[in-house]
Amino acid sequence: MIDDISNIVVLTGAGVSAESGLATFRGPDGLWEGHRVEDVCTPEAFRRDPALVHAFYDARREKLKAVEANAAHRALARLDAEWPGKLLIVTQNVDDLHERAGAKRILHMHGELKSAWCLGCDARMKWEEDLGSGPPCPACGACGRLRPDIVWFGEMPYEMERIDRALTGADLFVSIGTSGAVYPAAGFVQTARYAGARTLELNLEPSLGSYHFHETRTGRAGEVVPAWVGEMLGAA
Ligand code: OAD
Repeated sequence: MIDDISNIVVLTGAGVSAESGLATFRGPDGLWEGHRVEDVCTPEAFRRDPALVHAFYDARREKLKAVEANAAHRALARLDAEWPGKLLIVTQNVDDLHERAGAKRILHMHGELKSAWCLGCDARMKWEEDLGSGPPCPACGACGRLRPDIVWFGEMPYEMERIDRALTGADLFVSIGTSGAVYPAAGFVQTARYAGARTLELNLEPSLGSYHFHETRTGRAGEVVPAWVGEMLGAA
């Protein structure tokens, strides 16, 4: 099977960063860091209570300073560096741990904690500091118009056309550490499979859409991802 593979699309979710110490979204209590998702991850929530939403994302951005990439991020970065064919790592994660591990062929479909978006002038820019204090936009100077550059529920994920092209051209689609609860990402396996790709799921437990995959391997990302990457590169 590996001999026939040139184009790979990898989809990652919160499970990839769990062993770094970042909370997944759908824990047993159904809360994300103590909040209902609809209270912090929607445009309505931001309009209703911008201070709460800023405080929430400021805390997530601050937390990034205390964590490091793990073995799963490093294995994917190795795949990126050494895979001779096409590769696109599409992540739903808003952290920067794939990049910190060294991955280059990466697309953040749900935005990034370290990016801000000005609702005044529409500019997007790298951002490391808090947004809750209402800092001026470096592009237009307007105060209090910057929001986290994160795709919230009800908003369109980034670069869907590019993702779709990659999925329909993929020989192998691999989904790692995602519950398969949020569309459109949850539907990527079907797009890739109907276009002819092999499909593999690597997750702690079978996901909601596990039955769509040709193969599911269960285990911690820090173990199953390096093992899979080793297989791929061993055969490359
Ligand atoms: P979830 O929290 O829904 O799912 C995380 C998945 O990772 C679950 O299936 C866990 O079983 C698995 N998991 C946990 N620890 C793991 C480990 N150590 N190794 C491997 N797998 C592990 O997170 P996502 O699927 O990423 O969207 O959530 C998708 C989207 O929903 C997020 O991007 C976010 C959220 O609402 C937005 O913010 C727009």
